[in-house]
Amino acid sequence: MTKSDFRLGILGCGKWGLNHVRTANELFGVELALVADRNPLAADKVVQISRSIKFTSHPEEIIESRDINSVIVATPAETHFELARKLLQKGKNVLVEKPITLELSDARQLVALADEKKLKLMVGHVLLYHPAVLKLKELLTAGKIGKLQYIYSNRLNFGTVRTEENILWSFAPHDISIIQYLTGSKPESVSAKGASFLQENIEDSTITYLSFLGGIHAHIFVSWLHPFKEQRLVVIGDKGMIVFEDSAPKDKLRFYPKGFNRNGGRLEKFDGDFEVIRHDDKQPLAEEQLHFYKCVIENKQPLSDGKHALEVLEILKMAERSLKESGERNSKF
Ligand SMILES: NC(=O)c1ccc[n+]([C@@H]2O[C@H](COP(=O)([O-])OP(=O)(O)OC[C@H]3O[C@@H](n4cnc5c(N)ncnc54)[C@H](O)[C@@H]3O)[C@@H](O)[C@H]2O)c1
Repeated sequence: MTKSDFRLGILGCGKWGLNHVRTANELFGVELALVADRNPLAADKVVQISRSIKFTSHPEEIIESRDINSVIVATPAETHFELARKLLQKGKNVLVEKPITLELSDARQLVALADEKKLKLMVGHVLLYHPAVLKLKELLTAGKIGKLQYIYSNRLNFGTVRTEENILWSFAPHDISIIQYLTGSKPESVSAKGASFLQENIEDSTITYLSFLGGIHAHIFVSWLHPFKEQRLVVIGDKGMIVFEDSAPKDKLRFYPKGFNRNGGRLEKFDGDFEVIRHDDKQPLAEEQLHFYKCVIENKQPLSDGKHALEVLEILKMAERSLKESGERNSKF
């Protein structure tokens, strides 16, 4: 396959979908064959990106197209399964936004369908394409912080409050995906607690606790009811610590040579100055789209493939179940 064999369509031109359209227009130009949103008003926003992008308010034009072989789906989560299923059945490679689907059985069906049709199924876990996350993984693999012990992720903002999903579904897929990637394994237990202040039964803040075989522990704190944006990932090992602070203006990735050595029965602290870790300055969404393109053209398995996304969904479901159970159990004075 060559570049001209990659013919891209995009379904969904809402808040995030327009980022996909803008990025794909810059990366692929004419290979971006058609974009669609069932709301005709989205056309005005697409025109502002470029007058040469073709728009339709009939998504089936992309689904039925004989010309388009690869499609990005950036519509609301509840539509992912049906759209991705139709596209795979029509022989198209799919990059669907996170979460892959709302139900595990649907996600399993998509994974099986992509396998059967020998098509690419990739999910938009965009942080796996962030150069700082890739660098962090490289450092862990090289033993920079020794044995991995604890990870926590704060994803907090005074941000968009969604009505169709709680903060766990909106934000935590990113953190679960990164923790999966860094640990390379699935947790053996997941528990979560949360609180709803703005809308009934839609949690604004949740804390999810994960523990893994081999003694690694992690927690994820997400909220859209927080005075400022904070995206901080802290990774603790027995020889040092790494912090990735995506919300920081600069020096986002830092190594802290801190920890404790055991001397006989005593714990001795080591505590050095942090070192800024350099990494590529590439845009994660562009890297994600380029990865999709390469996987299609070179017939490679995506990093955030359907199986990775299915594991993320399994963990999300376990957290959701625990959240609802703990909510019901909480007694009041
Ligand atoms: N990877 C990330 O960092 C990230 C960030 C934000 C959102 N997202 C994901 O992107 C997806 C879209 O989120 P959003 O914030 O853009 O939502 P949005 O509500 O702003 O936009 C969704 C768009 O899809 C359109 N749409 C709905 N059904 C359609 C259909 N059947 N065919 C064509 N168009 C259809 C709507 O008209 C709307 O314009 C969600 O799955 C969300 O989880 C991912």
